[in-house]
Amino acid sequence: MGTIILEAHLSDLHLPKKQQPQITTLEITPQLQPTNPPTTPETKPQPDTRRDSGVGIAQTQTALLITPARTYQLTTSFPVPAALAPGEVLIRTRAAGLNHIDWKSVEHNFCLPALPWIVGREMAGVVEGVGAGVEGAKRGDRVWTSTYYKDRRAGCFQELVVVPEHTVSPVPRNLDFAAASCLGVGGLTAAMTLWRWLGLPMHPPAVEGESRQAILIWGGSTVTGQFAVQMAAHVGWDVIAVCSDRTADLVRQLGSRHVVTYSGKSDREIVDEIHFLGQGRIAKAIDLVGPKTARVVLDVIARVGGVVDFAPLAFMSSREVIPASARVHNVEMKQFVLDTTSEVYARRLNELVESGVVAIPKLRVIQGLESVEGGLKQLKEGDLVGEKLVVSISV
Ligand SMILES: NC(=O)c1ccc[n+]([C@@H]2O[C@H](COP(=O)([O-])OP(=O)(O)OC[C@H]3O[C@@H](n4cnc5c(N)ncnc54)[C@H](OP(=O)(O)O)[C@@H]3O)[C@@H](O)[C@H]2O)c1
Repeated sequence: MGTIILEAHLSDLHLPKKQQPQITTLEITPQLQPTNPPTTPETKPQPDTRRDSGVGIAQTQTALLITPARTYQLTTSFPVPAALAPGEVLIRTRAAGLNHIDWKSVEHNFCLPALPWIVGREMAGVVEGVGAGVEGAKRGDRVWTSTYYKDRRAGCFQELVVVPEHTVSPVPRNLDFAAASCLGVGGLTAAMTLWRWLGLPMHPPAVEGESRQAILIWGGSTVTGQFAVQMAAHVGWDVIAVCSDRTADLVRQLGSRHVVTYSGKSDREIVDEIHFLGQGRIAKAIDLVGPKTARVVLDVIARVGGVVDFAPLAFMSSREVIPASARVHNVEMKQFVLDTTSEVYARRLNELVESGVVAIPKLRVIQGLESVEGGLKQLKEGDLVGEKLVVSISV
C-alpha cells in the first residue's frame, strides 16, 4: 500500500507562531493500522493487564476515526490496545466531552500526528485494567481524565482509552459520568490557567483582603469561563465578565461581581465600561473568544496602567502589539499530562466540585459515538447558550 503526502497550510490558521505545529508535511498510510505508541518511548509492552480481574474484554472496540481524508468514520472493529505499559490505566468510556479543539484539529489539520487518528480530549468512565505499579486506581473505579493528543490510545471518542495514572481522578460523588466528562477540558483549563499560569490562590484567604483585586474574564458564559468565574469568585477576586445579554443572568449567578454585555456596543464602549468598573484593580485577564477580543483585552490592559497577567486561551495573533504592562502567558494544557505534579490541580478541582463550590455547566447530552460528528458541527455553529455538549456511551 502506498503513502499519501498531504500538505498542511498552516499559514491559513492564523495561529500564534508558538502554537503552530512544526510539521508541514504529513505522511499518511491509508489503512486502519493501529499504532499504539507507549506514553514514553522507552517503555516496553508488558503482559496483558487488561484482564486483571479475570474477566476478559473484547479485542476490538467501537471508535470514531478521523480518516486520511479527514472525514469522520465510525468503526466497530478498531483494535483494543494489547497491553498496558507500567503506570497506565485502561478506562471504559461512559461519557466524553465535545470541544472546539476536536473539530478545529480536523478542519485545520493540526494535532493529528498520523491518520487515521482518534480525537477527543476528556472523558469519564470505569477502570477496566491497570498496568504494573498503578496504585491510585483499580478495576471498577469511576474516574475522569484529561488527555493529550499525541497518543491515539488516549483519544476519547473510542470505547476504551489508555492514559497515565497521574491524569486519572475519581468522579466526584455528586456527579454522574456525563457531568464528570466535562471536567477534563473546561474545568481543568480554568483551574490550571488561574492557579498555575495567572497565580490566583487555590484556596480562599483566611482573612478577606480590604482592597479586592479584579480579574477580567472575556467570555464568562463559555464553558471554560463558567468554571473560571466560580473559581476566581471563590477566592475573593472581583470578576468582571463579558458576555451577551442572553447569558448575563447566568454569569451573574455564577459569582461575577460585574457583568458587561457586549451586545450592541462598540469595542471602545466596552473598554470604557470595563475600565470604569475595574477602577485600576484589574490584575489578571483571560480571553475565551478569539483574536479580536484578545485585541480588545490588550486595550483594556493598556488603560489599566499596572501590570496585568493575561492568558489568551482562544488564540491571539502573533502580530499583536503587546502593551508594556501586559504579561502574556502561553497556557499549555499538555503540561497536565507531561508534568506529573499537575495532578494537584485535578485534585483541588474535584474538591471544589464535590463540595458544591463549583457547579458544572448545564449539559446537553447526545447519545453514542455516531452522534459526535453532528455534535461537533453544532459546537462550531456556537449557539449553545452556555450549555456543554457531551456524548453518553451506553455499555
Ligand atoms: N488553550 C486551551 O487549552 C483551551 C482550553 C479550553 C478552551 N479553549 C478555547 O477557549 C474558547 C472557549 O471554549 P469553550 O469550550 O469554553 O467555549 P464555548 O462554551 O463553546 O463558548 C461559546 C460561548 O461563547 C460566547 N461568546 C461568543 N462570542 C462572544 C464574545 N464576542 N464575547 C463574549 N462571549 C462570546 C457565547 O455566549 P454569549 O451568548 O455569552 O455570547 C457562546 O455561548 C475556544 O476557542 C476554545 O478553543 C482553549
